[in-house]
Amino acid sequence: MLLNLNYIMEIKKRKDAHIDITLKNEVDYTTHDYFNDVIFLHNSLPELNLSDIDLTCSFFGKKVKSPIIVGSMTGGTEYSKQINQKLAEFAEKNQIPLGLGSIRPVLENSSLLSTFDVSDIAQTVPKFANIGMAQLIPSSKGFDERLSSILSICDKLRVEGIAIHLNPLQEIVQPEGDNEFNGCIEGIKILRKTTRLKLIVKETGAGINEFIAQKLDDIKVDYIDVNGSLGTSWSKVEYLRKGSKVEGFDNWGNNTLFLISTAKRRLKFAKLIAGGGLNDGIKCAKSIALGAQHCSIAKFFLRSMFAGSLQQTYDHILEQIKTCMLLTGSKNLTELQNAKLIITGKLKEELQVSKIDVSDYYFRP
Ligand SMILES: Cc1cc2nc3c(=O)[nH]c(=O)nc-3n(C[C@H](O)[C@H](O)[C@H](O)COP(=O)(O)O)c2cc1C
Repeated sequence: MLLNLNYIMEIKKRKDAHIDITLKNEVDYTTHDYFNDVIFLHNSLPELNLSDIDLTCSFFGKKVKSPIIVGSMTGGTEYSKQINQKLAEFAEKNQIPLGLGSIRPVLENSSLLSTFDVSDIAQTVPKFANIGMAQLIPSSKGFDERLSSILSICDKLRVEGIAIHLNPLQEIVQPEGDNEFNGCIEGIKILRKTTRLKLIVKETGAGINEFIAQKLDDIKVDYIDVNGSLGTSWSKVEYLRKGSKVEGFDNWGNNTLFLISTAKRRLKFAKLIAGGGLNDGIKCAKSIALGAQHCSIAKFFLRSMFAGSLQQTYDHILEQIKTCMLLTGSKNLTELQNAKLIITGKLKEELQVSKIDVSDYYFRP
């Protein structure tokens, strides 16, 4: 009992420390600026009015007002409850999907459910819970019971989906992190067979590559958020929190744009979400033009919320996406996905290694 209590306190401390560290420190990947390697081919004859541009799309089968998703972040403490409530108000007001943080604390202590429950605030928008890969290993102790608890929590939170985060890098560097990941794909398969919830599989910043994306597509997960290495580096965050178990991995991973472009050719079923490092609308528009259907934003929204500028930040992102659409003659998101691009630099080199012909982006019909 005491052990369990200590464990819960440890998780709570960790969740709040993650928020503080990401708010107060420079924790982004410091790699090449891949967004600069993507240039839209400017259309000086767009034959469109700004007011014609349509940003709506559908998520979990529901109409939403833009391709932006509030990325999975928090829950489990009083502090994070307030954050979830504010993010929920924001998502509901703007009619965009909302991700909640990992519900693992609720598995340990059911009274923490209320820190995630925003169903009365975000009543109409698509919402999804979140759980880590380490909780979904069928051979691990108590798997069956855990699986039914996860589904029952989702039910109580009235979410339509759940995001499973693949975070082996974060776990490996985290002093108290898991080291065992064998069997996770089997766990996702079981989850797929057990529930009609929409399934999102996401990374937390190191990225999901096209071969993994293919496996996930084969088992019919609904969305893949590649979450590549252009934003928050969890290796840096964990280092600042408690020191790392192993060092040298701050910039480990693959960039969001490379992952989107390569994963797109593999997917028959799942929809692609760009995540990791999105902090303006031009970056979002570039991600969509490379093949993403949605864009998830985590830390940038958290910081804007604390700065009191979340709504202005979001409005500016939409304005930038619309401007990119106007200047490429794209009247809706499907047309933006087909906008002509010039791909240069390191991104071009990487795509060439993966045998993507970057001139295909330029000669799009
Ligand atoms: C404070 C904080 C807490 C997070 N907690 C979770 C979590 O519980 N589950 C999860 O899948 N991702 C979590 N993430 C990771 C984000 O969803 C995202 O994958 C990552 O931060 C990269 O996106 P970004 O560059 O927009 O921050 C968290 C991110 C932040 C900033």
